[in-house]
Amino acid sequence: MVRVFINGYGNIGRRLASAFSHDKEIQFIGIGKYSIDNKVDEAFSKKFPVYVPDEKVPEFKGKGYDISGTISDAIKESDLVIDAAKDGFGYSNKVNFYVPLNKPAIFQGGEDRTGEKKVADIIHNSRINYDKVTNQKYVIQGSCNVSGMGRIMQPMIEKFGDKIQRYDVTLIRRWADLEDKKEVKDSIEWDKNPHHQDDVKSFLPSVKLYVESYKVPSRMMHLHQMIIRFKDKVPYFDSISDIYHEEFGVAVLANAKGTADIRLKARELGFEHDDTNMVHIHEETMRKSDDTLKILYSDDQTGIVIPENHLLFQSMALGKSKKQAYEHTDSLFQISKKRDLLVKQFG
Ligand SMILES: NC(=O)c1ccc[n+]([C@@H]2O[C@H](COP(=O)([O-])OP(=O)(O)OC[C@H]3O[C@@H](n4cnc5c(N)ncnc54)[C@H](OP(=O)(O)O)[C@@H]3O)[C@@H](O)[C@H]2O)c1
Repeated sequence: MVRVFINGYGNIGRRLASAFSHDKEIQFIGIGKYSIDNKVDEAFSKKFPVYVPDEKVPEFKGKGYDISGTISDAIKESDLVIDAAKDGFGYSNKVNFYVPLNKPAIFQGGEDRTGEKKVADIIHNSRINYDKVTNQKYVIQGSCNVSGMGRIMQPMIEKFGDKIQRYDVTLIRRWADLEDKKEVKDSIEWDKNPHHQDDVKSFLPSVKLYVESYKVPSRMMHLHQMIIRFKDKVPYFDSISDIYHEEFGVAVLANAKGTADIRLKARELGFEHDDTNMVHIHEETMRKSDDTLKILYSDDQTGIVIPENHLLFQSMALGKSKKQAYEHTDSLFQISKKRDLLVKQFG
C-alpha cells in the first residue's frame, strides 16, 4: 500500500487528513504540525499520528503531546507527501526534504509554477489533464478558483469548441475561511495581477481568457461571473443542465440566494467540514444576449481542492484510470449524493 504523509494541518491539511485517513486503499502516515494551537488537539482527538519539526520536539513533548516523530522521520516513512503548507513554504519543504529524500510530492495552489521558487512544471485539473500527471514526481494542485474555472470551461469547450471567441471571468473571493482567526476587513480589494489567468492557461493554452479578481468581506465561498463570448449568436440549449448534468462536482441550482445559503445548508446537512466539495451554477442568473452568455457559479473554496488532490494522487501514485479514480473519490467524498441533496434543497 502506498504510504502518504500530509505535511501541514491548516484549512487544507486538516481536510486532506480527514479524507486520506478514511481511504482504505492507502496507508496514512500522519500529519505535520508546526505550532501548538487548538488544531493539535483536534489532530490527537482524531487519532492522527502527529509529526513536528526537529527543533520543536522539546516544546511539543514539554506540553505533554505524544508525538510520533519528526517531519523528516515521517517523510522517510512515506512514498508520497501531500504538502499543505502556507503559501511559499512548499518550496522550502521541497528543497529541504522532498528532493534530498527523493520523495514525490503534491503541492497546493499557493505555490509557484514559474520563477525562482517554482515547485513543479504542471498544474493539475482532473477534468482536463488527469492523464498527464501520471508518474510525475512533483505536481501542483490548482487553487480553488483555478479548479472551479477548469471544471466549468472544459465542458463548454467540449460542447461548443471553436464557436467560442473568449472568456472574461470576474472572481469575487472570500476574505477568509470560516475557521480562520483573522479579522474580515471592511473593504473590497483588487488584485493587480491575478495568478488565476496564467494558471488556467497552463492547462488550457489555446483559450482566450481574461481574469479580474476582487476580495470581499465574506467567509462564505467564492463567486465567479463568467462571460463567454461566441463568434456568432449563443448556440441554442434548453437549460444549463444540458451541458453539466453529468459533470462530477457540478451542481446546477435554481433558488439559492447567496453563498452563505449553500455553506449553511452544507452544515445543516452534516457535510464534513461544512464542505460541498463542488461548484454550484446558479441557473436563474444565466443570461444570453446575442453573442454573449453569462454564467454565475459559487465555488467551495476550502472543499473543492480536496477531492482534486485525491484524484491527482490516484493518477500520480497509482496510475489509475480516470473512471476508476472518479468512482473511488466519489465513494470517499459522497459528492454525487451531496449534489443530489443540494439540488433537492435548491433545485
Ligand atoms: N484555504 C483555502 O481555501 C485554500 C484553497 C485552495 C488552496 N489553498 C492553498 O493551500 C495551501 C494551504 O492553505 P491553508 O489555507 O490550508 O493555509 P493555513 O490554514 O494557513 O495552513 C497552513 C499550514 O501550514 C503549516 N506550516 C507552517 N510551516 C510549514 C512548513 N514548513 N511545512 C508545512 N506546513 C507548514 C502551518 O502550521 P501551524 O499552524 O502548525 O503553524 C499551517 O497549519 C496554500 O498553498 C493555499 O494557497 C487554500
